[in-house]
Amino acid sequence: MSELNVLVTGATSGIGRHASLHLARRGHRVIATGRSADALSTLRQEAGDLALTTVRLDVTDTRSIYEAAAEVDRLTEGRGIDVLVNNAGYGLLAPVAEVRIDDVRAQLETNVLGLLAVTQVFLPKMISRGRGRIINISSVVGRTSFPFYGAYSASKHAVEALSDALRMELAPLGINVVLVEPGPIRTEFVERAMGTLSPYRKPGSIYASVLARAEKLREKADAYSVGPERTSRVIERAAVSRRPCARYVVPRRVYLVLALYALLPTRLMDAILAWAMGLRVLAK
Ligand SMILES: NC(=O)c1ccc[n+]([C@@H]2O[C@H](COP(=O)([O-])OP(=O)(O)OC[C@H]3O[C@@H](n4cnc5c(N)ncnc54)[C@H](OP(=O)(O)O)[C@@H]3O)[C@@H](O)[C@H]2O)c1
Repeated sequence: MSELNVLVTGATSGIGRHASLHLARRGHRVIATGRSADALSTLRQEAGDLALTTVRLDVTDTRSIYEAAAEVDRLTEGRGIDVLVNNAGYGLLAPVAEVRIDDVRAQLETNVLGLLAVTQVFLPKMISRGRGRIINISSVVGRTSFPFYGAYSASKHAVEALSDALRMELAPLGINVVLVEPGPIRTEFVERAMGTLSPYRKPGSIYASVLARAEKLREKADAYSVGPERTSRVIERAAVSRRPCARYVVPRRVYLVLALYALLPTRLMDAILAWAMGLRVLAK
């Protein structure tokens, strides 16, 4: 496989950062993008002699997207990118009954509208070349939902829906759209998601007793997580395969969770999750 021009969003941390370095080590020319100039500069230093360039890009800022696109044009001498990895995102954790609408708006702004806006700006060059690939980092909660994951899960369900439609719309034009659906991956994600939960862990909340145990639930989730090298390998496969799958689940054991959802009645799954998350203490 010849080397590709790959742009990664949210490359300053976790999955995006690891994938950027991994793809560069595999001989591809990587444009690693992110919001933090300091984090981009550290990444650039770590990349050493690798073909990895950093560019500022905040996916929620239209001007920043167009400035990044102009810089990418310059870097690729007008050719554009072969692969776009839409990775930037975060998890808002909160009870759906109490979540602030502005927090949900911000979640959708980054995870959904940011991804769509970046895609629309980089697509035309792929279309005119009749070749290209878009890899959207969704989540296992893009196929399911868990208590307190409602807003985050809604954002990833939206990513799945947009990706499914776009895949069919772009296939005749020679462009593949691929979903990567990670389960728990060891990154900054959980720490940041726990931060978004803090304002909701207040004494007046009907969920106060459940959310007081959030650290315990987090420890359980951490025990099942795998390192970002797993997502990097899958992203590479999605980028270089001649005929990529429509979706990749990582790690593979997450297929078991999806199989349970497919096989068991919804009310039974609800009861299992209510037990696992400690929601039964609320029963009257
Ligand atoms: N880790 C998991 O368990 C897991 C599971 C399923 C799906 N995912 C998905 O994987 C993706 C990457 O998450 P991660 O685990 O690598 O978490 P992470 O370590 O927190 O990294 C998230 C990255 O997204 C960037 N980002 C956030 N908002 C942005 C914006 N407006 N513009 C540009 N970049 C922005 C962050 O940059 P800043 O540092 O500037 O905020 C950071 O570089 C996300 O889409 C997440 O939903 C993660």
